[in-house]
Amino acid sequence: MIEVISGIEHARRRMAEIRRQGLAIGLVPTMGALHDGHLSLIERARSGNDRVVTSIFVNPTQYDDPDDLEQYPRTLAADTGRAEAAGADLIFHPEFEDIYRDDYRFRITESEFSRELEGAHRKDHFDGVLTVVLKLFNIVQADRAYFGEKDWQQLLLVRDMAAAFFHRTEIVACPTVREPDGLAMSSRNVHLNQEERRLAPEFHRTLSSGAPTDDMERQLADLGFVVDYVEQRGDRILGAVRLGRVRLIDNVQT
Ligand code: PAJ
Repeated sequence: MIEVISGIEHARRRMAEIRRQGLAIGLVPTMGALHDGHLSLIERARSGNDRVVTSIFVNPTQYDDPDDLEQYPRTLAADTGRAEAAGADLIFHPEFEDIYRDDYRFRITESEFSRELEGAHRKDHFDGVLTVVLKLFNIVQADRAYFGEKDWQQLLLVRDMAAAFFHRTEIVACPTVREPDGLAMSSRNVHLNQEERRLAPEFHRTLSSGAPTDDMERQLADLGFVVDYVEQRGDRILGAVRLGRVRLIDNVQT
């Protein structure tokens, strides 16, 4: 039976117990509303560790848009069942007041890459992400933590942060899981109306087209997307667009 733990001290005790038994812990941090993308991370963690912890915490400090935070689906009972079926042993579901008992006086700031791309469009987003991830890492002290390539910039920033602070947790990158039509799975996809859902796969198709990024931006705008950015970094093309009230991000390898 899957264990659900909310208290931070309780979670720390439980993790210490598991480590004392010499068992390897895999952590999958999420904000819940679990879909097949999240479940692929849990399955990957299952295959590489003795115990799998899935954290579910909708982290307000990474949202600059109260609407977006408000809209975020909260489905703990369904999430617990799905996580268990995918191989999780433990759900860590902390309270806001416990995670931010310092009232967010202390935070992690990266001063270069976090200001670009997503960071340029979502002010202080990555401060919130990195801060909560470091808190989760410190509580769980996992051997490995699993992050999706879907959020490419987040993955690189978390990996660099773990290295910068000599954290014991190894970061494992997992490929993006897509719908059959190519749309990257996301908790936000449920908010697309029928017309937007029909159009949404054109985002990934365009990013994969091999055209210059300026042309991709124009093509997406012509199709009806509001384009935040399409940019190349190394061998990746990263993009963010809006369809109505829904913001989509994706990236492909060139
Ligand atoms: P969330 O959006 O719930 O995503 C949790 C993890 O699932 C992230 O590592 C994300 O990259 C991965 N993921 C989401 N959709 C995916 C897909 N289609 N294929 C593969 N992996 C996918 O990302 C966050 O939460 C938060 O920022 C968090 C790291 C939990 C910090 O609050």
